[in-house]
Amino acid sequence: MLTLENITKRYGSLTSLDGISLRIEAGEFFGLLGPNGAGKSTLMSIVAGLRAPDAGVITLNGQPLTAAKSSARAALGLVPQHVALYPRLNAVQNLRIFGQLYGLKGGLLRERIEEGLEAMQLADRRHDPVQNFSGGMQRRLNIVASLLHRPQLLLCDEPTVGVDPQSRNAIFEFLEKLNREGLTVIYSTHYMEEATRLCSRIGIIDHGKIPALGTLDELLLKLPFEEEIRFPLADTFAPLTARLAGHGSVEKGQDHYHFRPQPGYPLSSFYQLTESLGYPARNFTVQRPTLEALFLHLTGRTLRE
Ligand SMILES: Nc1ncnc2c1ncn2[C@@H]1O[C@H](COP(=O)(O)OP(=O)(O)OP(=O)(O)O)[C@@H](O)[C@H]1O
Ligand SMILES: [Mg+2]
Repeated sequence: MLTLENITKRYGSLTSLDGISLRIEAGEFFGLLGPNGAGKSTLMSIVAGLRAPDAGVITLNGQPLTAAKSSARAALGLVPQHVALYPRLNAVQNLRIFGQLYGLKGGLLRERIEEGLEAMQLADRRHDPVQNFSGGMQRRLNIVASLLHRPQLLLCDEPTVGVDPQSRNAIFEFLEKLNREGLTVIYSTHYMEEATRLCSRIGIIDHGKIPALGTLDELLLKLPFEEEIRFPLADTFAPLTARLAGHGSVEKGQDHYHFRPQPGYPLSSFYQLTESLGYPARNFTVQRPTLEALFLHLTGRTLRE
């Protein structure tokens, strides 16, 4: 549905996007996971047509998006990182302005406004000026505004920053429902928990590049298996600890053994060994690597730095 080829954006000597190529299929919930300054907003605003790339080509449904007024853009919606609403106008007045920008009017516009306000639990505040809304309510209204024209592809740029857990959940559920109904979503975040929960595919973005991309499982497979495996501190495990000694370190903890495999020792070998010694798999707890660990492995930095 959306393809990016070699998208590059520079600000003076700073390269914000460094030749990004990407293909998003219809129906995907695609995550862009990266820290501050990675290039997430730059990428979103270029796809949305708010900024022009220095190089590269974007196509949406086969049509190039480079022309300033491409009709293809009607298929796009953007939830910007910073709330873009008129503070003194109320919720309905704001939504009317956004809807009219997309050519909606009359009964259809009224209908879509009501649907959006209901879905984001803002209906009872419809006549309040937006400046009296909490940050989370403003964010929810921002999302409603981006969807009035029923885009096929929604670009969500960190839509939950500064939002309390309840509003955050309402946003997640709303986006998940729309995605199930066919909306394609590109969602940027620096929270790995959000990417893990929401996204069918994740691109790790850092310094304007995407060094890794795939499903969560595919990404985690890129990590050498170096997490720990725990099993009970009991004499019955003596034959196992003896056999593991050559494959990593075995330490006695309070009530568990902690086995840290050598880099490159596969989990499958561990399970073959325990099975051959007759231990049921339920004895072993494997600490799964996380996206955070992958990010550190790829970039040498943490996501929250
Ligand atoms: N208008 C601009 N002028 C100069 N530099 C810019 C401009 N917009 C972005 N940049 C730079 O490009 C880089 C990427 O910025 P961008 O806003 O895309 O990052 P981001 O991943 O969205 O970060 P955040 O998580 O903080 O929102 C940063 O180094 C930023 O300073
Ligand atoms: Mg940003």
